Amino acid sequence: MKLAVEGGKPVRKKPMPERIMFDEREVKAVLELLKKGTEESTAKFLDRYAGENVDRYEKEFARYFGVKFATATSSGTAAVHSAIASLDLEPGSEVITTPITDPGTVMPIIFQGLIPVFADVDFDTLNITPETIEKVITEKTKAVIVVHLAGVPCEMDKIMKVARKYKLKVIEDCAQAHGSIYKGRYVGTFGDMGVFSLMSGKHMTSGGQGGMVITDKEKYYWAAKRFADRGKPFGIKNPEGNVSLGLNYRMTEIEAIIGRIQLKKLKKIADKRYKIVEKLRKEFSNLKAFSLWKKPQNSKPNYWFCFVKVDKEKLKVDKWKVAEALKAEGIPVGSHYVIPMYENPFIKKRKTFGKSGYPWNPYRPDIEYKCPVAEKSLNSHITLYIHECFTDKEIEDILKAFEKVEKAYLK
Ligand SMILES: Cc1ncc(COP(=O)(O)O)c(C=O)c1O
Repeated sequence: MKLAVEGGKPVRKKPMPERIMFDEREVKAVLELLKKGTEESTAKFLDRYAGENVDRYEKEFARYFGVKFATATSSGTAAVHSAIASLDLEPGSEVITTPITDPGTVMPIIFQGLIPVFADVDFDTLNITPETIEKVITEKTKAVIVVHLAGVPCEMDKIMKVARKYKLKVIEDCAQAHGSIYKGRYVGTFGDMGVFSLMSGKHMTSGGQGGMVITDKEKYYWAAKRFADRGKPFGIKNPEGNVSLGLNYRMTEIEAIIGRIQLKKLKKIADKRYKIVEKLRKEFSNLKAFSLWKKPQNSKPNYWFCFVKVDKEKLKVDKWKVAEALKAEGIPVGSHYVIPMYENPFIKKRKTFGKSGYPWNPYRPDIEYKCPVAEKSLNSHITLYIHECFTDKEIEDILKAFEKVEKAYLK
């Protein structure tokens, strides 16, 4: 069969299903809240301190994940920033993280005057590992931010062992892994804090943008809360004004009222996404040149998207051509996930604070970043976008398209 990219008939003409996240519950709740503004001053109900929804959302979020505390923020980046700031580390301290992530994981490290250090990843999961973390620890290392990429959990039990050995704090970035389970526990509950993004493309949303920090440790809870609101003296006895540096990262009542309803839907979304990807996993095992990335044993990821490994030795074309061909067949794929974080100009060219080169100057001016496995793995994978509204028909079309492209390009 002729490939669509060469003028043939595509496997799928119909667009993939829309991802419908809302129903009448979100609509009713938001309208009711907004209606108040026709009768009373917005200052009486829109801000978190005037209403009850952000407080309730925090409590419900904490209960869902089985932790004591949660602090809502205005974005996932704000959640990472509030969490890292709450550790109150000395400038120049080193924070280990992954080169395969969103800048929202890394920029807060730099804003805090800390040095990001990139641990290499496991080729098959694209996540950092206990071994790669241990390799880059120095006497200045104080914390690790792990990212459960695309929903696949890092090996948290072993990572926590390394962290305890070197007395490192651990933040779990769960921005892509809401409700992913590792060895029977939700990710975000292994480290000192878990952070979430609640923007509208994630597994659940608080209404466009939003974030959450969860923890069992009261001191981090208060510190993150203070940071997310300009150092207001939350949790401080006999306060005398704003006690520490912070920003305004507050969530609004509209966001929280949506988030509260979305939280109730998370379990179903996670189950559906798991079933879809596991089905794909099973069927992909019949292909020769394509395979899905791996997950740790005893894990149940809430997948955000899929990585598909393209075995270039078996094909006549590279992964860029493969992605182009799949797109023409009507399949939602991306040819390349991201460049390694350290290749971005804000790190490579030290585009941070004027010409200072801070924080690398003066703490680690000579640090070099290179994660060969991450680079190789990124160059070997394409992305496949799925979501919970996919049915058996979409799975079938995905498989048909991969089979068709493989048949055309196999050596
Ligand atoms: C792993 C990771 N961390 C942090 C963020 C930042 O979250 P936000 O976009 O809500 O600021 C994202 C966003 O996609 C992410 O994927």
